Amino acid sequence: MVRRMTVKQVAVTGASRGIGRAISELFLKNGWRVWALARTEASIEPLKAQGDVHFVAFDAANERSVLDAAHRLTTDAGHLTALVNNAGIALSAPLHRTSTEDFQRLMHINVTAPFMLTRELSGAMVKAGHGRIVNIASTAAQKGFKYTAAYCASKHALLGLTRSLALELAIRGVTVNAVSPGWTDTDMFTASVQRISESTGRSQDDARETLAKMNPLHRPIKPEEVAEVVYFLCASPGAAAITGADYVIDGGETV
Ligand SMILES: NC(=O)c1ccc[n+]([C@@H]2O[C@H](COP(=O)([O-])OP(=O)(O)OC[C@H]3O[C@@H](n4cnc5c(N)ncnc54)[C@H](OP(=O)(O)O)[C@@H]3O)[C@@H](O)[C@H]2O)c1
Repeated sequence: MVRRMTVKQVAVTGASRGIGRAISELFLKNGWRVWALARTEASIEPLKAQGDVHFVAFDAANERSVLDAAHRLTTDAGHLTALVNNAGIALSAPLHRTSTEDFQRLMHINVTAPFMLTRELSGAMVKAGHGRIVNIASTAAQKGFKYTAAYCASKHALLGLTRSLALELAIRGVTVNAVSPGWTDTDMFTASVQRISESTGRSQDDARETLAKMNPLHRPIKPEEVAEVVYFLCASPGAAAITGADYVIDGGETV
């Protein structure tokens, strides 16, 4: 049983790596307790070494696992100040090579799981009259990209969910916002570089440069840059009136 006190608490999905890890680290640095939702406890060991971290088993692809994680949080954490729906997967494939199973898997992990967690955890926020929910969307929620129909559909859906829930929960003191990064330097980016290199025969450096140059800054976004915006939305009194917003962090790629 975890001690309940006035410490601020955030639940972060996909806390093991990449953007979710950077978000978790920033909250820890600021003295928050982090409920790290991840598939394995081993994957959050490096995070645990940095502060007040509690592992919650969570597989976004599995409905039972999502409900169990929500139940554990409701029972053991009590009031969460913030929920960050970050866990996500990408898929790059032309339409004719995107199976219905692939499409449904992306929708489940990228949209259904955030929807379920928000439904299960926002009740306590509403009761407390305060809560901050942030969904990690993407530039793929702003516009279409070739060969990523399932990913784009899932991120557009996540943005729609964000906007609708923002309106529903505003009067209850709960804000719901999206943060939409462009290419960000994580394993997801590296996997895309490798895939482009393999499919085109170009070097990995070349593929990396091409993706980086989609961003007018000519570099990928840093996970820490995404974390700063998420932290502002969750922690700052200055963000109290911001809801239904979508903070695009893409160096100007989509303007
Ligand atoms: N990187 C980019 O360029 C970029 C751009 C725009 C938006 N985003 C979005 O940002 C979010 C984080 O991406 P990232 O770049 O940090 O990706 P990443 O480095 O590939 O990490 C993905 C995270 O999601 C978790 N995850 C994947 N499938 C899961 C499942 N079934 N159940 C639970 N957790 C699962 C992973 O956990 P494991 O360690 O267990 O695999 C990991 O923590 C995603 O929603 C992604 O769509 C990324």
